[in-house]
Amino acid sequence: MTTRREFLKKMGAMAATGLVMPTILSENNLFARSVAANDKINIALIGCRGMGWSNLNDFLIHPEVECVALCDIDKSILENKASELVKMRSGKPELYGDYRKLLERKDIDAVIIGTPDHWHCLQMVDACSAGKDVYVEKPLANSIAECDAMVAAAKKYNRVVQVGQQQRSGNHWHEMKKYIDSGKLGKIAKVNVWANFGYATILNPVPDSPVPAGIDFETWLGPAPKRTFNEKRFHGSWRMFWDYGGGLMTDWGVHLMDMALWGMNVNGMPNRILSSGGNFAYPENYAETFDTLSVVYEFDDFTIQWSNVSIEAGPYGRNYGVEFIGTNGILVANRESWEVYPVQNKIEAIKSMPNYQDHRDHVTNFLNCMKTREMNTACTVDNGSLCAKYAHLGNISARVRSALVYDDVKKTFNHREANKLIKPDYRKPWKFPEL
Ligand SMILES: NC(=O)c1ccc[n+]([C@@H]2O[C@H](COP(=O)([O-])OP(=O)(O)OC[C@H]3O[C@@H](n4cnc5c(N)ncnc54)[C@H](O)[C@@H]3O)[C@@H](O)[C@H]2O)c1
Repeated sequence: MTTRREFLKKMGAMAATGLVMPTILSENNLFARSVAANDKINIALIGCRGMGWSNLNDFLIHPEVECVALCDIDKSILENKASELVKMRSGKPELYGDYRKLLERKDIDAVIIGTPDHWHCLQMVDACSAGKDVYVEKPLANSIAECDAMVAAAKKYNRVVQVGQQQRSGNHWHEMKKYIDSGKLGKIAKVNVWANFGYATILNPVPDSPVPAGIDFETWLGPAPKRTFNEKRFHGSWRMFWDYGGGLMTDWGVHLMDMALWGMNVNGMPNRILSSGGNFAYPENYAETFDTLSVVYEFDDFTIQWSNVSIEAGPYGRNYGVEFIGTNGILVANRESWEVYPVQNKIEAIKSMPNYQDHRDHVTNFLNCMKTREMNTACTVDNGSLCAKYAHLGNISARVRSALVYDDVKKTFNHREANKLIKPDYRKPWKFPEL
């Protein structure tokens, strides 16, 4: 029998002759378990509080899936979720506070990453390099440069990656796309996208306080700048502070901009981005991100316009949605339905309802892709990256108060201050992944 050492030696010799790709030589990758159709799938969850836990629940619908490990920096969340898991399944998961220890385990096939956005990149890249497949929550990352690193990591380590933009697995969104592709709407001149949610406003700030017992706040901050603990910048509401998230623009923006970009077959950057925002609805808003924001993405022959305000109302009686405006009709969609409103009776009115299975189907798609080694998941890392970049472009243009052009090959804006917002400075000892 060939030992691990002999095998590595043989592969090294083959690499020297050019017979294997050098990236396959990553030791972890070589010994990554590959899942066959009838195999058990061992998964682990990193970041257990909100969406991570919801994701895990849909994974556990599948009897072949076992959750063997949970990781969180908050001991009470970790213990609560572990005991809930034991009630759902017989086996007790191993508990971790440091995801790197969890990644050392060879029996884990895939990880779910449900941590705040500023953690996605490091954890995803490390998971890929440890030979794990990854279900990573949206937005893919908290910066443009991190998106690029994650795309590179998935390719370098040849991992199956699903981004948690579950609308990509929604039946009515696929029907909507088919309808748009039919051309019935005529020439689409403009797409409006909006998300008006009150949680973008954080009122009644509280002073910084000691770190509550059982929380490893240093690790929660991770690569983000050092600061003292404040409960309003922590669980759940971190998404309204630039170091950890991008407000409604990234939180809902990636879901809805995804539909706009998909509908319009956009695969690259816009010609120009013009954006303006601030805390205008509630000037006393403690959040750094904008409770009010408007972004125009310019293309050769149409525009996409994003808008958010933290007042829960909106056109068509919907506080969030996407509107494709064509010469023959207007198509309006959100998670509740899509509808066509004819212009001057040029086409038929339509209303189409969803089956509300998006999330379950998204998880099933990931598991099937793991089994068949299909890299083209329902929401690939490239797709997640494109949407996240659009969201960051909108925020950056408003933050520097300038119209911008972004060159995605040279990785630069036509603006010095905007360039400083492309890549975060990771706080030591964390290092920005080099791939
Ligand atoms: N797909 C969707 O519809 C959807 C919905 C909600 C949230 N999300 C995404 O899910 C992610 C999590 O959001 P949330 O609302 O659940 O946040 P949350 O604050 O409720 O939960 C994050 C969890 O991660 C833990 N954590 C933080 N740093 C960690 C680390 N280094 N290692 C291990 N655990 C760590 C926290 O303690 C917490 O338990 C975000 O990226 C968010 O955008 C997606």
